[in-house]
Amino acid sequence: MGETYRIAVIGGDGTGPEVVAEGLKVLHAAAAKFDFNLELTDFDYGGDRYLKTGEVLPENAAEELAKNQAIFLGAIGHPDVKPGILEKGILLNLRFALDQYVNLRPVILYPNVDTPLKDKGPEDIDFVVVRENTEGLYAGAGGVLKKGTPDEVAVQESINTRKGVERCIRFAFDYARKRNKKKKVTLCGKTNVLTFAFDLWERAFYEVAKEYPDIETDYAHVDATCMWMVKNPEWFDVIVTDNMFGDIITDLGAMIQGGMGIAAGGNINPEGVSMFEPIGGSAPKYTGQNVINPLAAIGAAQMMLDYLGESEAADAVDKAIRNVVADKLKSLSAGKMGYGTSEVGNLVAELV
Ligand code: IPM
Ligand code: MN
Repeated sequence: MGETYRIAVIGGDGTGPEVVAEGLKVLHAAAAKFDFNLELTDFDYGGDRYLKTGEVLPENAAEELAKNQAIFLGAIGHPDVKPGILEKGILLNLRFALDQYVNLRPVILYPNVDTPLKDKGPEDIDFVVVRENTEGLYAGAGGVLKKGTPDEVAVQESINTRKGVERCIRFAFDYARKRNKKKKVTLCGKTNVLTFAFDLWERAFYEVAKEYPDIETDYAHVDATCMWMVKNPEWFDVIVTDNMFGDIITDLGAMIQGGMGIAAGGNINPEGVSMFEPIGGSAPKYTGQNVINPLAAIGAAQMMLDYLGESEAADAVDKAIRNVVADKLKSLSAGKMGYGTSEVGNLVAELV
């Protein structure tokens, strides 16, 4: 009998539970094939629980989740709850409480997928964004004065600590080495305007880079990064950036890889408990219709296997995703795949 992994499962809101179910299907198939066990614990965190109990998260949520080796999350965001309450109260709260300081978001063009970058292929679109995940504009620093009056003032400050920035940059260099592809890390910033924050980033970046003489360095402003991601995505291998820029450029990344249906991510604490999720949100309008694409969630499960050290199983899931995308699906978009959500899960699970 192989290793047993304790995994916390948060289906969450909207289509979250449906895509997580398909991810679990593939994980079970991988467990059977590669001889490991899964001990799953369900957590009902999300909008429905909040509407019923008035509580966003129980006091001991992070503590309970931390009893597991990883967390598999569907999506957070409910149409009947004011935007921000669940996102901040659950998602950001857990990222911060579990100190998941890197948000790791691969941008991969799978075979036979239509991208708006018509003349680019899978060999051109294959990079990873390392997004700082606990600081920046997301830290919640700032405040409001004279709210609701004509003199209202709102300040939202970006927090950048040397420690927080440096550990994220170091993760990016280690990851470039581990990926062993172009061996290049690009810092994405805005040194020409955000002269305090990105001065710190830039100094930390080039100091850490000295420890990695085998890794090439590059710098691009965030606006230019958006341009190059569309024009010359093959220039990128690992992009490291702050929380807000990382949020924005990974939605663009999802689009150039063919859409939100295939975009996976991991909230990583290399010394603690990490949380893996599809990056696309809860897509409430598709809930319960068996039309949402589960491949982003299955991709998140694949990242989780890799992180747990089950690299053979992770490779098998990766190959299965590639085959299903290349040979079966008509499109990656919800309702246009030519298969239902659970059929896509079956196809991947069978190949594994
Ligand atoms: C993401 C999402 C979240 C973020 C929201 C839901 C708070 O957009 O994971 O990218 O901004 O980080
Ligand atoms: Mn986002």
